[in-house]
Amino acid sequence: MTYRIATIPGDGIGVDVTAEAVAVVDAVLPGVEWTAFDWSCENYLRTGAMMPSDGPERLAGFDAILLGAVGFPGVPDHISLWGLLIPLRRAFGQYVNLRPVRLLPGTESALRDRTAADLDILIVRENSEGEYSEIGGRHNPGRPDEFVLQESVFTRVGCERIIRYAFDRARDRGRRLCSATKSNGLIHSMPYWDSIVDEVAADYPDVTVRSMHVDALAAEIVLHPDRLDVIVGSNLFGDILSDLAAAVTGGLGLAPSGNINPARDTPSMFEAVHGSAPDIAGQGIANPVAQILAAAMMLDHLGESAAAAAIDAAVCAVLEEGRVLTPDLGGTATTSELGKAIASRAAESMG
Ligand code: NAI
Ligand code: MG
Repeated sequence: MTYRIATIPGDGIGVDVTAEAVAVVDAVLPGVEWTAFDWSCENYLRTGAMMPSDGPERLAGFDAILLGAVGFPGVPDHISLWGLLIPLRRAFGQYVNLRPVRLLPGTESALRDRTAADLDILIVRENSEGEYSEIGGRHNPGRPDEFVLQESVFTRVGCERIIRYAFDRARDRGRRLCSATKSNGLIHSMPYWDSIVDEVAADYPDVTVRSMHVDALAAEIVLHPDRLDVIVGSNLFGDILSDLAAAVTGGLGLAPSGNINPARDTPSMFEAVHGSAPDIAGQGIANPVAQILAAAMMLDHLGESAAAAAIDAAVCAVLEEGRVLTPDLGGTATTSELGKAIASRAAESMG
């Protein structure tokens, strides 16, 4: 089977790590047809738009999209995110944001006495509504009574489908689900979310479910990661928890993510959790592992589970050996040296 995959390398280190991820995929699954789109902040400065207005139509026919990261100093973040990332997630019905968080072998966690067996969490983030809404506005601008309103949107369909998806993932894994709430502070949206968790739970008697306030859950990720398996959260809660969870493993350079449309009638989009890292852009030292693991999630989604597993095993082997590591992992290797080490290890295991 030949796949047609679109890449949007984007800005900063997104460009470098995407090149490595493409090379790793080529090493395990020859013949993928790649098409690169140069949509980015640079493109915005040149054309006034992050992507052309028919961007989603141009991508619709691809089997999947591999996105680097968008955002760069000089272009406000709300322009880069709302001009590309968020519209694509919504145009393609990618209502699941799937974020596996694992302590990989050979990497040093902020939780130093923990091992890979203690920390293996899957974060299922709602990816289409919730707190990230365009409803609201600035009123009485410049006056003493100036105020802003930022509304949240929680729909029955939106809540139910993501919660059901999370229960299904829990069923594939350790049958434990934790729902992030904040019903003591957000007195309309979160009790509603909780009630839908209860409703859906009735269909999954084999899955143990509990609700935790998001602040307590943040502490739980640090103090007792071993008690957690699948976490489901709204758009904002899932976003914050996944950066936290990535940080307590070996850092942002290791954390992958998938924007998934479970209906599969449009392409899903895979990306690292991290952004474009302007502070290290252009130095050739970004860790490509997060983007390489995002590419492995993409292959898994496409049904290429052997190729995905080969990439995963190659990442673990190279990290465990500890000879070729980027500076964020305490080494001196470049982005492409680490990428090449993983690609050749993965190719060996396929060959
Ligand atoms: P960031 O994730 O780009 O960087 C945070 C810190 O982690 C920096 O110190 C960076 O050097 C380090 N880091 C991140 N990825 C790394 C890697 N692969 N290897 C080694 N170190 C790494 O987050 P920040 O600085 O808040 O955002 C920078 C830009 O990226 C902003 O414009 C933001 O809007 C954008 N962004 C885009 C995302 C996307 O396209 N999905 C996601 C997050 C941020
Ligand atoms: Mg984030």
